[in-house]
Amino acid sequence: MKKLLLFVLLFSLGRIYAQNPAINLIPQPVDIQQSGGLYEIIRTSTISYDVPEALKIAGMFSQKLNLSTGFAIKPQQGNTGSIQFNLNKVPVSTLGKEGYTLVSSANGVIITANEPAGLFYGMQTLLQLLPKEIEGKTAANVAWTVPSVKITDYPRFAWRGLMLDVSRNFFTKEEVEKYIDQMARYKYNTFHWHLTDDNGWRIEIKSLPKLTEVGAWRVPRFGQFGGRAEPKEGEAATVGGFYTQSDIKEIIQFAQDRFITIVPEIDVPGHSMSAIASYPELSCTKDQKTKVNPGSSFSEWFNDGTFKMRIDNTLNPSDEKVYEFLDKVFTEMAAIFPNPYIHVGGDECYKGFWTKDANCQALMKKMNMTKPEELQAYFMKRVETILKSKGKKLLGWDEILEGGLAPEATVMSWRGIKGGIEAAKMGHYVVMTPTTFAYLDYQQGEETIEPPIYSGLRLNKCYSFNPVPEGVDAKYILGGQGNLWSEQIATLHHAEYMTWPRAWALAEDFWSPNASKNWDNFIQRVEKQFDRSDLEGVNYSTAIYDAIINVKNSEGKISVEMTSEVTGLDIYYTIDGAMPNLYSPKYSSTVTFPEGPITLRVVTYRNGKQVGHLITLNPEELKKRTGGN
Ligand code: ACM
Repeated sequence: MKKLLLFVLLFSLGRIYAQNPAINLIPQPVDIQQSGGLYEIIRTSTISYDVPEALKIAGMFSQKLNLSTGFAIKPQQGNTGSIQFNLNKVPVSTLGKEGYTLVSSANGVIITANEPAGLFYGMQTLLQLLPKEIEGKTAANVAWTVPSVKITDYPRFAWRGLMLDVSRNFFTKEEVEKYIDQMARYKYNTFHWHLTDDNGWRIEIKSLPKLTEVGAWRVPRFGQFGGRAEPKEGEAATVGGFYTQSDIKEIIQFAQDRFITIVPEIDVPGHSMSAIASYPELSCTKDQKTKVNPGSSFSEWFNDGTFKMRIDNTLNPSDEKVYEFLDKVFTEMAAIFPNPYIHVGGDECYKGFWTKDANCQALMKKMNMTKPEELQAYFMKRVETILKSKGKKLLGWDEILEGGLAPEATVMSWRGIKGGIEAAKMGHYVVMTPTTFAYLDYQQGEETIEPPIYSGLRLNKCYSFNPVPEGVDAKYILGGQGNLWSEQIATLHHAEYMTWPRAWALAEDFWSPNASKNWDNFIQRVEKQFDRSDLEGVNYSTAIYDAIINVKNSEGKISVEMTSEVTGLDIYYTIDGAMPNLYSPKYSSTVTFPEGPITLRVVTYRNGKQVGHLITLNPEELKKRTGGN
């Protein structure tokens, strides 16, 4: 009898659970009501689309569904399917171009939108409502349930971007497509493609063949970028690659199919060593020996943020040939890329070679310029005129504000948000991509174990990003973007590790209402995405489980406070050289160590299982963190 009662109890609990499956969506929708109950997709379920424009999305959904379920459902035109993709006959204004409604009940699922983009985002939400096995590449035997919900959803910002630098390290066409496909899953709509820099020119320009014959290749080097040996005289440049225009068209189509637009970047007038290696006459120094940089150091950075380049990587703003060169580049690009913008860089341009150049000085005198920043402004205004003649708009990093902004320029604010504020106050459009919240190349956890780079940015900081600063008219803030510079990133797996989960936080910053943010709830959803990414074969960082160790000097002794980004972890540590685990001392509040050379070892556990990486701080590191040397 007792056993029977227990069975009935467990059975009812199971049913209640099944009737209200947990919902874990990223980014969080504007409004979601869960009513209890569910719909189970079965072999005989049907998928419909009401107008031909909706077929592509219904088709993408059925393809993914069939792969992971083993079903063979074909979308049918009409509006009687158990899963429906319908476009509004009369647009619903709150939904805009990208919004959607998703209504699911015991009878099925209906996704409605004004435009196909909205149906696509509704489909992404539906995929996240299904069990994680939907991400598998082979048929799984699970109940394909969709909880009953009513979702109304639309983005906060029109520009939701990620930037990938393919110059510092080259990524193949297939790798770029995988990255774009991932972005689309989280409702990003803009891929900023950093195509040129000192370390490689990656886009075929048919009228300037040396850009890819010479500029796309560098000598082989390993080790930390910035610390590598310079190219030797006569050494073969064998590492690199580029995209042919036909590759690029294919990637643009791939992105368009996922409602992602591509903003290409040609970084000028600085960061141009690969162009100058191809055509040395474009720089002031015209050094015929200029090579594509393989990650060796050619600059010095000073504490006040200024810098000096030892090798000229800057186009000559006083030379008409430079504008003829750019005209050729932008003519071919404008013919391929549908996005209204071409990003023209403008960051970190060293003016030291300009100030020593007679022609640059003559131009400054002729134009009554008093500082070299005005030469860069002159250059950017000329570039804007070229772009406008091709029907394109100019976008640049916030340095383009120095010396005067080109009349219709849009600014990408990266050195914090101040450039963005200044531009918006002048009535220019802005995309917010500050280092402080959005630099995905920075370390995301404990600096002694994360892949080395000079700065850090944790997930919770990304999650706290609000792209609209106080006192700025929100209409000038197009949106935000995470930037992945690839100096230290040689593989797609590592690019994914640096991107996720931080770009999940940014996706929510750019899509969801700011007021709906809740850290613990977000982490719960992140953990569910980890499980999905495992099935998808996408890499990510688990640094959020690692201990955060704050070392202090308390009257000559070392003391530490420890915490973690994920709340409620158990932190165990040793100071006697032993390997820490759940038998070691458990951290509860500030610990002050006895005097003597101490090595601190820390791990984190949850429910008796290790979840964080081992962190070891040796005596030198501990001393350094107390302010000693
Ligand atoms: C930049 O990070 N140099 C835009």
